[in-house]
Order: sequence, then structure tokens, then C-alpha cells
Amino acid sequence: MAVLQSFFPSSIVHCSLCVAPGILQRNRPLKEELEKIREECEATLSLAKTEPEVSEIRVRVMGRKGSLTQLLKQLGALPEVERKEIGRKANEVKESLEARIEEVLLQIQERERKESLAKERIDVTLPGRRVATGTRHPLTQTLDEIIHIFSRLGFEVVEGPDVELDYYNFEALNIPKGHPAREMQATFFISEDVVLRTHTSPVQVRTMEKKKPPVRVICPGAVYRCDSDPTHSPMFHQVEGLLVDRGVTFSDLKGVLTVFVHQMFGKETKLRFRPSFFPFTEPSAEIDIECFICGGKGCGVCSGTGWLEILGSGMVDPAVYRFVNYDPEEVTGFAFGMGIERIAMLKYGINDIRLFFTNDLRFLKQF
Ligand code: DAH
Repeated sequence: MAVLQSFFPSSIVHCSLCVAPGILQRNRPLKEELEKIREECEATLSLAKTEPEVSEIRVRVMGRKGSLTQLLKQLGALPEVERKEIGRKANEVKESLEARIEEVLLQIQERERKESLAKERIDVTLPGRRVATGTRHPLTQTLDEIIHIFSRLGFEVVEGPDVELDYYNFEALNIPKGHPAREMQATFFISEDVVLRTHTSPVQVRTMEKKKPPVRVICPGAVYRCDSDPTHSPMFHQVEGLLVDRGVTFSDLKGVLTVFVHQMFGKETKLRFRPSFFPFTEPSAEIDIECFICGGKGCGVCSGTGWLEILGSGMVDPAVYRFVNYDPEEVTGFAFGMGIERIAMLKYGINDIRLFFTNDLRFLKQF
């Protein structure tokens, strides 16, 4: 605008009353001004690097208040001859500048396109990045498998509390206060009558309290013992099983648990029932499977015996029925309990129970 004004002294701008000889003379500054606008515009355009810069130049010259627009507004005040001549010239300047602006814009767009292509170049030969998918924890997988096997045998899943009354954890399982059998399980006491459950067997009692026979349940969950070494963890997991009905015998126990072992470890797996003792079952038996490391010859893993213990079981002791008002003359049943970590360690050949709880992806990803 400042430039424009300097080339439009008021005498020229307001020259509608001029006589012919004067017109030519006054025309010259207008023509010169047009040329000047063209030159300046072309010069600034040649320096423009971006589209917004070009738009700004366009507005400065051809916008509503642009230098060229302002100049064109003055034409109306000129005599016709002069107006035509300058008008033609002005149109020519306008057209050529518009063409130049278009040309510069195209150049800028082309350059930016090339730059972004160079910057965003994709190497299609690079190997893709894999999406890391999680896997179920080996303990979850093992438990799912155990549940799957027993649910096909008609067992349903029930759960009980981790923080348990001494009554359910010991007393009602025929382990009275002061009884030496309590020494079998190093217990975390919350108070004199409340413990962190040392096994899932209390869920047997809770289930029988609520439900009349027939009962056919498995009870998975976390258990707690004051113990820690490569094969013992202060928190681990068990699955309890209980089947009570009329006429249930030890051969039912053997049948159900044999099916379980064969489905869990393979049809060829050899197993044996070894007499044992638990306060809540009578008679009791532990199940061993043939050592898969030495094939029964005896090695470090099976302590030279050729057998690996996998679970405890037995016929429910009539003393337990008395706590839940079942009549031992009418019903019989069997129970069993196994450590999920132990089953998983045997199945997958894992030698340290702590691996399950340290969340090392190198370990977890193998399952
Ligand atoms: N509760 C026992 C333990 O933690 C395991 C067990 C053994 C459960 C024999 C049973 C059973 O139901 O009959 O060592």
C-alpha cells in the first residue's frame, strides 16, 4: 500500500478532468506503476518457498486491498481512451501474474511432494514387526485341562475363601486342635481361629454343608504354607475333588483317577496306588506315575524310586460326614487333592516352582 500510494500522487489519481495532452504524461506513472507491481510480485514470487507465502503475495497484489486491485479502482476516474489503454495493460499484468502464481504453486507442490516421498520412503523388503500376542499362563493351561477332564466326568467347579476358619481348614476335616496331623501343613495363622487355607479340602466341607448328596465337585484355588525352596512356594494352587453318593466304592475312586491320569499324562502312563494316610480319608492312597525321566529305572528326579507322586486321595472318613450331617450308613464317597504346580512341573519338565511366579517372558512364552 505504501508503494502504491507513492506512485499515485493525488493529482494523478483525481485526473478525470484532465485534457488530452496531459493524459499521456499522467499515464506513464500508472503504466510504470503496473510494471513495478509486476516486477515486485515476480521477484517476491521467485523467493516464495511455501503455499501460504504464495497466497499471501496473491492477497497483497490481487486481494480486495491489494496493490493491483487498488490501481484498477482508479481506472474508472480516467478518460475513456486512457482507461482502455491502462485497462488493457492492467489485465495483461493481472493475467500474467496469475499465471506466474499458478506456476510457482505447481512448482512448490511438486517439490513438497518429492520431499515427502523421499522422507516417507517405505522399504517393502524390510521384515514386518510381529504383534506380540500373550499366552495363557502354564498354570492356567494346566488347570483348564484338569477342569476339562473332570467336567466331562460330571464334576462341577466350586470355590471357597482363601482366608479360612480353622474349623473348615482343620477341625471339620477330622484334624482337631493339638492333633499331630496339623504338623503336616506349616500354617500361616491370621488369628487363633483364622488361617490362610493350607489346602483346598475345606471346600469339601463347605460344599457338603450346603448340598445334600449326590455331590460331584472339583475345587480349584490358591493355598498357603510357610515353606519356600525349589519345589515349595508359600503360595501355590490345588484342585480338590469330592464325589459322594449311595454305593460309591474304592473302585470308583480308582476308575475316575485312572481316567484322569491317562488323559492328563497320556494313555501309556503307568500308575500305582500306594497306601497312605490323611486324617479326612480312610482308607487313603497316593497315586504315583512312572518317572518319565528314567522310565522307572530310578534317577535323581524320582529319588531313585522310579515313581513320581502326583496326588492324594481316599474314601471320605465317616468322621467328616458327622460335621456336615451326612449319614455314613447311607452314603459313601471319595476325595482327592493335587497341586497344580506339581502337575504342570511333571507334565512340562519344569524343575523350579518359582518360575511360575517370576513372570519371566522367556519362560512363559514357551507355553
Ligand atoms: N489336602 C491334602 C493336602 O493338601 C491333599 C488331599 C489328600 C486331599 C487326600 C484329599 C484327599 O481330598 O483325599 O496334602
